[in-house]
Amino acid sequence: MSKMLEKARNYELTQGQQIKAEERPAFHISPYVGWMNDPNGFSCYKGEYHLFYQYNPYQTQWDSMHWGHVVSKDFLHWDYLPAALAPDEDYDKIGCFSGSAIELEDGRQLLMYTSVQQEKLDDGTVRDVQTQSVAVGDGLDYEKYAGNPVLTAKDLPEGASKADFRDPKIWKEEDGCYYCVIGSRPADGSGQILLYRSKDGFQWEFVSILDENQNRYGKMWECPDFFELDGKYVLLTSPQDMLPEGLEYHNGNGTLCVIGELDPETHKLKEQFSQSVDYGIDYYAMQTLLAPDGRRIMIAWMQNWDTLAYRRNDSKWFAQMSLPRELSIKNGRLYQVPVRELDAMRTNKVAYTDVVIKDTRITLDQVEGRTVDLELVIRPEDKTNVYEKFELRFAENEKYHSALSFRPHESVLKIDRKFSGSERAVIHQRRCQVNKDSNELKLRVVLDRYSAEVFINDGEQVMSAVILTDQNAKGISFFADGAAKIDLVKYDLV
Ligand code: FRU
Repeated sequence: MSKMLEKARNYELTQGQQIKAEERPAFHISPYVGWMNDPNGFSCYKGEYHLFYQYNPYQTQWDSMHWGHVVSKDFLHWDYLPAALAPDEDYDKIGCFSGSAIELEDGRQLLMYTSVQQEKLDDGTVRDVQTQSVAVGDGLDYEKYAGNPVLTAKDLPEGASKADFRDPKIWKEEDGCYYCVIGSRPADGSGQILLYRSKDGFQWEFVSILDENQNRYGKMWECPDFFELDGKYVLLTSPQDMLPEGLEYHNGNGTLCVIGELDPETHKLKEQFSQSVDYGIDYYAMQTLLAPDGRRIMIAWMQNWDTLAYRRNDSKWFAQMSLPRELSIKNGRLYQVPVRELDAMRTNKVAYTDVVIKDTRITLDQVEGRTVDLELVIRPEDKTNVYEKFELRFAENEKYHSALSFRPHESVLKIDRKFSGSERAVIHQRRCQVNKDSNELKLRVVLDRYSAEVFINDGEQVMSAVILTDQNAKGISFFADGAAKIDLVKYDLV
């Protein structure tokens, strides 16, 4: 083991264990200590789910990318394992950037990641050079391959930048070959997804440009994933530098799902549908795994590069992962629901039906808490006189609250954390177009100590946001301008 990795492992062991469990999210992954970004190597290996993550143990800021490592049997209770990779080679000394993992034929686990180094240009300036490298291991310790890097500038199609060539996502096909998709920047300055193939995971060849952005959805496409689901092919990617389009796409770092058919001859995606993956504030760099029972499960960094200023300054860890979500495709749309394992954490069921809320704010007995699973159906009390606005407040006390509000006449659902205790001028609200044809809105709101994830109409859309409000603010209340009628089921998540 390199000195650098040993140092990281010692540091996280001594510092990470000082963080009390109750200072972390209850069931969302947070870094052992320090900074975390993208999920990496989300995979099933020897009967357990492994997740690696972009990791700087030494600070709660991005720097010197290592790979952190956690393991779980149920997607909800995660154990920390020692850091898996450190940027300890010449070819990755600027960082071990994002990548993925797969089990090899011989039972070892292969990690494929972006190795970053720098080069000096003729004019004296320095720029990053991104290549792909691999490491093999046993689920705990990994050794970088002597032949690294395995994909370099010479494997790029014409015009593609060697400074933006990153985030390999690997899988195995029925033809016995490994494939991977990698984000790349073509000459037009936007993004494209490259497809590569390998017989053994070590020797790789270029196959095709799977899909091209052509400056439609932001610029560079980061962290791609590609898989077949419910008879369609799905490309997930996280575009940088987005411009807004209605309420579908927002400014800055966003998420994109393209659904289509795969041309088996040209290996190109024939696009049919596109949408955001998450309509909230904090969701980026999602990655999936195929569980042994056939479920396609997605996790993401529950954070956005553009809202890093919304943070706690007294914390020894920064950032968290989203809840793992089960995916499906219905009517050309991506649906997401929390992993069914979450049901086992539900306790203290409280149910209410046909509660009428009219021009007032109410609370309901035993409906409160910060680690909660809440199911709500909201409909007009009188179909011919539909209410103006319904609002659900949570993480609430006299001083603070966050809210979801629905305006049926505009079909707009808004998440708002403006009063959550934030002292920074970053985005605190986001709107989402929902329920175009119906006045009945169905919500499932999963709260953990520092987040809210809102599953809309059985997962047709999702809004995720970090909520850093003091844990004493645990109230939940309901308001309607006009008359709304709700059914509600609430569980504590324990
Ligand atoms: C996305 C990203 C990846 C890169 C990693 C570096 O959030 O920019 O493209 O591999 O973060 O930490």
